[in-house]
Amino acid sequence: MLKVVQFSTGNVGQHALRHVIEHPDLELVGVHASSREKIGRDAAELCGVPGATGVLATDDLEALVSLRADCVVYTSQGETRPTEALAEITAFLRAGTNVVATSLVWLINPDGADAWLREPLMAACRKGGTTMYVNGIDPGFSGDMLPFAALSLCQSATSIIVQEVFDYGTYDDAEFTGVSFGFGFTPDQDPPLMFLPGVLRSIWGGPVAHLAECLGVELDEVRERHETWVTSVPIDCTMMHVDPGQVAAVRFAVEGVKDGQPVIVMEHVNRLTQAAAPDWPYPPDGHGGVHRVVVTGRPGVEINAHVGSGDIDQNEGGVMATAAKVVNAIAAVCAAPPGMPSLRDLPIAQVHGLMR
Ligand SMILES: NC(=O)c1ccc[n+]([C@@H]2O[C@H](COP(=O)([O-])OP(=O)(O)OC[C@H]3O[C@@H](n4cnc5c(N)ncnc54)[C@H](OP(=O)(O)O)[C@@H]3O)[C@@H](O)[C@H]2O)c1
Repeated sequence: MLKVVQFSTGNVGQHALRHVIEHPDLELVGVHASSREKIGRDAAELCGVPGATGVLATDDLEALVSLRADCVVYTSQGETRPTEALAEITAFLRAGTNVVATSLVWLINPDGADAWLREPLMAACRKGGTTMYVNGIDPGFSGDMLPFAALSLCQSATSIIVQEVFDYGTYDDAEFTGVSFGFGFTPDQDPPLMFLPGVLRSIWGGPVAHLAECLGVELDEVRERHETWVTSVPIDCTMMHVDPGQVAAVRFAVEGVKDGQPVIVMEHVNRLTQAAAPDWPYPPDGHGGVHRVVVTGRPGVEINAHVGSGDIDQNEGGVMATAAKVVNAIAAVCAAPPGMPSLRDLPIAQVHGLMR
């Protein structure tokens, strides 16, 4: 059994926590929560699992580090508080605990990440003889496992388009996703965080570069594009209330260009209701969301992945899948050499213990 600490119990964290508790190969030994109302509560209660684990939530970083767990699952908010996230993650790495994370999404292609982020983590990995791996569904699965699966069926490829087409209406994340994507903004407002020059490239440029490297393709340029759609009627959804004249759908992409053509494209179409942006792509067959890859070439492959089923909708499915993508990698990460691997450095079959 691998001893695991779960760090944070937010949207992604609560699903990671449940996954760790229920996984037959993993033993939960610690859980971090930052909010006062969660500290001291049993881990099971914090993620809706019946019974008690005896592991109580704490905000004592040192106590969690001193558990000397095999791995910590770090799902605390990273992009808005990178300095704190780096301090917390490096404390574990230096002390000999490996890290899998959904946070700090710039690290999905660690080789391409900025030095201010990569260097302290690499130094901590060297000191502790540890490994850190960052992934998720998008960015993550959509830009690595999904296109790798499609490309494995190809003799040749001329272009690869990866899309997330998702109705975010039921996603309860107005503070981060809502604000950073600019939902509810008016067109005369300053652009949201996501559309400031270089931000899309800092997140999806890594996966584009990673895929190009794996394909052996030298890109001439990695560029961004984005557009917004404004509603003419009020919209009420879990994410937020949007008035007429405000943004209710966004479409953006990062494009890897070769010889003037976008050959590797990672695109998002995110709307707050199915009625928004009717001219933009929709998921097939009435689904609320899709992660899709289209490889043009011989023979040409399209894969449409839909997370969620039954009473789990696409948004809950998305955060659950994001958590699963890194929890399922724990054994591979613990067995990997020290450093910061990307998916191509790890065994793909990260499925042991899932059938139950
Ligand atoms: N690649 C992907 O596909 C993907 C998808 C979704 C999310 N993510 C990433 O995963 C991370 C977690 O996402 P999430 O949706 O779970 O975020 P979230 O719901 O906002 O949860 C973040 C958690 O971080 C903890 N936290 C500690 N200090 C905080 C602070 N100052 N402000 C806000 N939160 C703080 C809180 O944990 P406690 O409540 O336990 O105190 C909070 O619940 C983010 O970095 C996000 O970018 C990646």
